[in-house]
Amino acid sequence: MTTNRTFTMIKPDAVANGHIGAILDHIVKAGFTIKAMKLTALTEKTAGEFYAVHKERPFYKDLVGFMSSGPIVAAILEKDNAVEDFRKVIGATDPKKADAGTIRQLFADSIEANAVHGSDSDENAQIEGNFFFSAFERV
Ligand code: PPS
Repeated sequence: MTTNRTFTMIKPDAVANGHIGAILDHIVKAGFTIKAMKLTALTEKTAGEFYAVHKERPFYKDLVGFMSSGPIVAAILEKDNAVEDFRKVIGATDPKKADAGTIRQLFADSIEANAVHGSDSDENAQIEGNFFFSAFERV
């Protein structure tokens, strides 16, 4: 069964490069509705917790360091088939491999500084949304 929500972050590179507005515009034009959103920042501790699933991967330390290097925008998005459709909208992890017109092809710098996060399953979308937002912070 699929749910109709996913979770995203606009990562520190895209925030620092002034792309918040353009990325949100792209997301809304792709048919997603914003159900929760905040500008915030991860610490090394909270980034480590968020990405704990990748703890054994060689890039874990770099990923945690990068994700705690500056402000991010966290958001919950709604659309039919949200998780899968949003992964298509953001494109491949490595922007060099991302399809033309995807957010990562348009706005990302590298496999580490890749502009946006998108949940990879309905279950993780729910866990990740709950990581950032209380019941009072979403509609
Ligand atoms: S995914 O989403 O699990 O299919 O993507 P994956 O390629 O497995 O990567 C998981 C997250 O790790 C980030 N990543 C990296 N960060 C730094 N350096 C390297 N080399 C690297 N490779 C992958 C990738 O951007 C994913 O982060 P999120 O926030 O989930 O997009």
